[in-house]
Amino acid sequence: MSCSMLPLLATLSLLLPDWSTTQAVLSEDYKYGHQCSDQLDQPHNCSWKCIVFTQQWPGGFCQSLYNETHCRIAQSINNWTIHGLWPLRDQYCCSCWPMFHSDVEELETDLTEYWPSLLKTRTQFQFWREEWYKHGACAACVEGFNSPQKYFQICLKLRQQFDVSRILEAAGITPSCKQPYKVQEVRSVLEPHLGVKHEIQCVRDRKDREVLFQVKVQLTRNLTVGCDHHGDADRVSAFRSGSCSSSGHPCPPEIPFYYFPIMHQEPWRPCD
Ligand SMILES: *[C@@H]1O[C@H](CO)[C@@H](O)[C@H](O)[C@H]1NC(C)=O
Ligand SMILES: *[C@@H]1O[C@H](CO)[C@@H](O)[C@H](O)[C@H]1NC(C)=O
Ligand SMILES: *[C@@H]1O[C@H](CO)[C@@H](O)[C@H](O)[C@H]1NC(C)=O
Ligand SMILES: *[C@@H]1O[C@H](CO)[C@@H](O)[C@H](O)[C@H]1NC(C)=O
Repeated sequence: MSCSMLPLLATLSLLLPDWSTTQAVLSEDYKYGHQCSDQLDQPHNCSWKCIVFTQQWPGGFCQSLYNETHCRIAQSINNWTIHGLWPLRDQYCCSCWPMFHSDVEELETDLTEYWPSLLKTRTQFQFWREEWYKHGACAACVEGFNSPQKYFQICLKLRQQFDVSRILEAAGITPSCKQPYKVQEVRSVLEPHLGVKHEIQCVRDRKDREVLFQVKVQLTRNLTVGCDHHGDADRVSAFRSGSCSSSGHPCPPEIPFYYFPIMHQEPWRPCD
């Protein structure tokens, strides 16, 4: 499907009554950054070379919200979860490829476990669909990604491949309220698995602690780790610091950070 079919958008917005509401919720909920909503609905020409796989740690997620009470972590969620798979692009994505519940029915059990919405204000399906519109539809100009099923399936596979808990646990890095970890130490543990260009992201909590919250892995189009394509460097840094980034910032190298445990009952202040 072509993403230059702009006239379709008017029709689409009629079909998707909760679209603008969802966008509003998103920009309200996150402390940092915007969620690329201003970059939707523009044509693009499939120029992306690199794609970023982002996982989030539920124990740090609530600290990334303006209103921490909006977060919700189901009892069954005890591990790193998927945030999304995002092509690094200098062109824009579009919402011209609708996604329906039936598209992910077969994957729903796995998606619920590995890609849950951690926001009370957003259902699982809304989260998945947003990620599809913002990023998946943009990735979909490449053959292996060219349907919601394929896109979500790839994400689930990547989650198995990049098992951050297992990697960290094996090095004795486990969630704790007391023990801060050095950025360089954690990076060197992750690097053999996630490549030199991986990024660990923190948020700052109320007590001014740096708290681990996301890990990003850069992949090529064919999903090999690391992406050095000529000319991508600028795009990557624009992506990191620009409006199209997720909330959070790279953990400052000189400040040890916390890897908070997940508290299901009252997830917003696990270590107060
Ligand atoms: C497609 O993307 C390339 C690379 O960014 C750019 O140079 C070219 O002008 C674009 N073409 C169109 C038709 O947008
Ligand atoms: C946070 O959200 C709750 C529930 O929606 C609301 O009652 C509360 O006033 C909000 N707090 C702030 C600081 O906005
Ligand atoms: C997360 O999953 C990995 C393996 O998939 C496992 O080694 C680890 O113990 C899990 N962590 C928790 C807290 O369940
Ligand atoms: C994947 O892509 C990279 C660079 O884009 C290339 O060097 C590598 O050979 C490719 N691997 C496979 C299995 O196609």
